[in-house]
Amino acid sequence: KKSIKDADVRGKRVFCRVDFNVPMEDGKITDDTRIRAALPTIQYLIDHGAKVILASHLGRPKGKVVEELRLTPVADRLAEYLGKPVAKVDEATGPDVEQRVNRMENGEVLLLENVRFYPGEEKNDPELARGLARLADLYVNDAFGAAHRAHASTAGIADYLPAVAGFLMQKELETLGQALANPKRPFTAIIGGAKVKDKIGVIENLLDKVDNLIIGGGLSYTFVHARGYEIGKSLFEADKEELARKFMEDAEARGVRIYLPVDVVVADQFSPDAHAEIVDIDSIPADMEALDIGPRTREQFASVVKSSQLVIWNGPMGVFEFDRFAEGTNAVARALAETDAVTIVGGGDSAAAIEKADFAGQVDHISTGGGASLELLEGKELPGVAVLNDKE
Ligand code: 3PG
Repeated sequence: KKSIKDADVRGKRVFCRVDFNVPMEDGKITDDTRIRAALPTIQYLIDHGAKVILASHLGRPKGKVVEELRLTPVADRLAEYLGKPVAKVDEATGPDVEQRVNRMENGEVLLLENVRFYPGEEKNDPELARGLARLADLYVNDAFGAAHRAHASTAGIADYLPAVAGFLMQKELETLGQALANPKRPFTAIIGGAKVKDKIGVIENLLDKVDNLIIGGGLSYTFVHARGYEIGKSLFEADKEELARKFMEDAEARGVRIYLPVDVVVADQFSPDAHAEIVDIDSIPADMEALDIGPRTREQFASVVKSSQLVIWNGPMGVFEFDRFAEGTNAVARALAETDAVTIVGGGDSAAAIEKADFAGQVDHISTGGGASLELLEGKELPGVAVLNDKE
């Protein structure tokens, strides 16, 4: 894929799609990681004299104007980081925006309104895509986190403009792409999260690449049950049990080692102040549910990480939102922080967990994408990447 370095941007109107879908509470940004992650591309465009037109979605307004989902607070935060004004308009397309763009100076930055205020965005309506394309001479996609969406501003617009990747997009694709294509060994994947259903594609794709597959979190109990253990009230997907069994057989046939919890923290209810106990995996009481991996499991998972050269982690090991059931997830975060192996954290919950545990600075790569990194781990091509062409 071509990058912005291959394009001549001076004096050009550059439509740069970023993922500024940041968490907000009461109109305040609670985590601006994604804004900071987009700075290298934005700064490069400014330094090279482009007219920088930024576009993003925020939340899921479903094609309507939702006041709380305006991008105005994001423009303010971005201006602080850039140390220069960021003009914000209240629309993303139309004659007023076009006029405003025509008045832009080289190096100026303009943030458009939330593109999901338009019904055409998620429908990838060509009319909206053309309207957005009319604002610019070049399309830069730096919105890795939204690259799994085939929307007007992430994919459709590239039908009408030369399209290149921004630096964040490139970094995300290269890091995960190289790791999967040419892994250092031993290669360990740690898959967690609540549901087997959400991770089927990932497990399928990784089974013929990894040396070790660690499965923890809610989804692991369907595997544990498939191995013949009683799991009490723990999460269980009966319709996925056969598949879990098949994955374990496939793994064995390929010489991939699968690690499941050997002990767990069980609770009498799904609550931060539930009564909790540590039990071996063959002793889960019928009326309790596993909410975290136990201490022996933490040690075992950490020692597998220690003996690896490459580790990819996606999904928490327990209900880490409740501090009492966060120890398993924190232990994995710590193991990643302490190892010399190349460490990659798929976005979403595991990224949040590693930040909460304060280990973010000690891993090699934390993806800014949730769904997008999941789809890359599944081996899929992302629509927002597929459109980046060589026209420029
Ligand atoms: C994300 O937060 O994963 C991306 O910004 C995509 O958001 P979406 O799931 O609402 O499309």
